Amino acid sequence: MNGRCSRNLIARLLVFTLPLSILCGCYMNSRALSQSPRPSPTVTKESFGITKSGIPVDQYILSSGSGVTASIITYGGIIRSLTAPGRDGRVEDIVLGYDSLGQYEARHPYFGTITGRFANRIAKGSFSLDGKTYTLATNNGPNHLHGGINGFDRAVWKAESSAKPDSVSLQLSHVSPDGDEGYPGTLDVTVTYTLFSNNTLRIDYSATTDKATPINLTSHSYFNLKGHASGDVLNQKIQIYARSIVPVDGTLIPTGDLQSVDGTPFDFRNPEAIGSRISQVEPGYDHTFVLQDSAGLKKAALAWDPDSGRALEVVTSQPGLQFYTGNFLDGSEKGKDGTAYNKYSGFCLETQHFPDSPNQRSFPSTILRPSDTYQHSTLFKFGILDYGN
Ligand code: GLA
Repeated sequence: MNGRCSRNLIARLLVFTLPLSILCGCYMNSRALSQSPRPSPTVTKESFGITKSGIPVDQYILSSGSGVTASIITYGGIIRSLTAPGRDGRVEDIVLGYDSLGQYEARHPYFGTITGRFANRIAKGSFSLDGKTYTLATNNGPNHLHGGINGFDRAVWKAESSAKPDSVSLQLSHVSPDGDEGYPGTLDVTVTYTLFSNNTLRIDYSATTDKATPINLTSHSYFNLKGHASGDVLNQKIQIYARSIVPVDGTLIPTGDLQSVDGTPFDFRNPEAIGSRISQVEPGYDHTFVLQDSAGLKKAALAWDPDSGRALEVVTSQPGLQFYTGNFLDGSEKGKDGTAYNKYSGFCLETQHFPDSPNQRSFPSTILRPSDTYQHSTLFKFGILDYGN
């Protein structure tokens, strides 16, 4: 991309700083005009059924008041639906998921879940900490994946909602007992979803423990910015602000090095169609991108659908971004409205630490000690982008 295009892109990205109602004339209806200029976010609660073991599950619907709604269930803290308007005002549900609790209770590819205690893989389900070796559940070939057989994606979280003039929040909490899936320490976890009137969904994670333990929490939504039932995402565009990736072996465990993206299909420093080079990385992208070296909030990625204009910017305090293109979806998942989700039907932008960190001395530490508090934030900013058809 030349300098002129970069400047254009930056100019058009300004849409993210403005409410959708201002950007999209067709969306700015007379009702909105006649009322206060500030839209009011709302939160409502409804039953989402009862688990097989008899625990009631609720669904909270957070609405920004300016076009975005997030429906979150207390089972797995799952973002079940996320709706956003395109440039023509048409609203689509842009995450993969299911209609019923029973489908979530059956095994599924972590659609929209809170993933923990440790998102991604730990080699052979084993690590040593302070001279002791721990054995975790293995649920992905030889490795431990996403917290094990009964990870946080299968817990029923306690929930409390709240509202402010400019935002609504859902605070979810869960206590993972000492020895859960093999991990040491009682871990007290809080995940707070906040939807702002400017169409930003912020996720704040925090946790404390009574024994040293690894922790790596993320949110595992599969996005399809054209709509969850619209087919593959290969024509959607993405920019990832990373100069290197974490190379992995055949079982997706890091080799321990970092690899420059220069001259490779992993170079998304300029926007590219997701599918433009995917055949060179069979079966697809499933890699951690190394974000700029900053503990504070920084831009991780920008993705958009050129047809509808729907766009998503990801900002995070995490050091890595797992870009996963739904390589293992094979149509056997019948999702919302009976939709068959096939390979590449969605993409995940999982903000997290690097895989297998407890066994990799050169990676940033993922060990939480009793004297510390784990804290991370990720923002998903929704908007319209009129760039790059
Ligand atoms: C993550 C992993 C993938 C896959 C999915 C869930 O994104 O990196 O390899 O396991 O979760 O199916």
